[in-house]
Amino acid sequence: MGCWPDGLAEIKPTEPDTGNAGEGRPVIDTTHASSRPRVAIIGAGAIGLAIGWRLAEAGCAVELFERGAAGRGASWAAAGMLAAGVETEPGEQPLLALTRPSQALWPVFAQELAAASGLDVGYRDEGTLVVALTRDDAEQLRNLAQFQRGCGIELTWLDGAGAREREPYLTPRVVGAVFSPRDHQVDNRRLVTALIAAATAAGARLYEHTNASVDLAGGRAVGVRCGDRRVPADIVVLAAGAWSRSVDGLPADLALPVRPIKGQMLALRMDPTAPLIRHVVWAPKAYLVPRRDGRLLIGATVEERGFDGANTAGAIYGLLDGAWRAVPALEELAIDEMWAGFRPGSRDDAPILGPSGIDGLVLATGHHRNGILLTPITADGIRDYVLTGALPEVLQPFGLARFTRPRPVAAAAHA
Ligand code: GLY
Repeated sequence: MGCWPDGLAEIKPTEPDTGNAGEGRPVIDTTHASSRPRVAIIGAGAIGLAIGWRLAEAGCAVELFERGAAGRGASWAAAGMLAAGVETEPGEQPLLALTRPSQALWPVFAQELAAASGLDVGYRDEGTLVVALTRDDAEQLRNLAQFQRGCGIELTWLDGAGAREREPYLTPRVVGAVFSPRDHQVDNRRLVTALIAAATAAGARLYEHTNASVDLAGGRAVGVRCGDRRVPADIVVLAAGAWSRSVDGLPADLALPVRPIKGQMLALRMDPTAPLIRHVVWAPKAYLVPRRDGRLLIGATVEERGFDGANTAGAIYGLLDGAWRAVPALEELAIDEMWAGFRPGSRDDAPILGPSGIDGLVLATGHHRNGILLTPITADGIRDYVLTGALPEVLQPFGLARFTRPRPVAAAAHA
């Protein structure tokens, strides 16, 4: 244990399981480490861990506080799709300014993380197929693809035979498909395991099963409190996902528009040497994500149910039915797992990044359906903000202020 103020030594940091972590890590100039801010991060999911890793690499003293087990919230429940293309729906064009550059960062981010942690994060780049199973589906898919192409997203239309050439176990009924060559996937569970190893190897301290509240004094964040203990920090980063709004110590008037959006999922077990599918496949009523270890993830519902974590018969039936209609052979597969998670949804489905309006308190939350995709750009952008005080331009449209500033009169008149 290091030297902790106020008896904090009683909070035991989680021992890092680093394996050969550190080997081959990029060399970071820590010459000025002593002048780096001390940072406390509330929330150790993919976002908090990645910010902690990047800041620790840059020479900051980083403490991460997680109410449960690190990486076991939405980051564990996710499917790991890096789908800036096919997940873009009408109305979400502004989000492309963030999702596309983050998607482009992913290959290097995965390599750097593997080097820093010694762990492979299961990044796969086969692309994504969105399939139409009826003529109506095909019409809808053509319209959506036309919109997405208009946003500059690269897509190829395939007829039924072309779709089955790529994925032979697709139903013979498949009418057509869109192939998105840039929408890939990462194994999100491996990702958080690697982030824990990389962050702790870089010097970050991780406190699991520790409720931290924001410590405010004189109107600014001066650290966190864990029970009656105080941990001073120059900067506090709030990265608590769907729980961000309920973190203690936040002023009542900081109304963070973040709420849990429940997603139910399940996994089947394929033979990893003969997987039924190799691409991520979106069917009209479910998506299917094949992992190298043979797991086939099927997701996901989108439900306003608060923090109700139950798996329901109707939801699991609906997902299985949706997946089976696209890939009938999966009915032979064993069920491996069922689970539910809570996406941190914001009011406009985009993340909330940067200043909170309270000195010393920085926000990195509300990533909704895109937390894994947006991990690299969020981590780099928040690191730069903490180190320089200047929010990178790409993050600027995604601040909390967009919910609080008055709407322009003309826009309001047409609403
Ligand atoms: N991005 C996939 C999901 O939220 O279910």
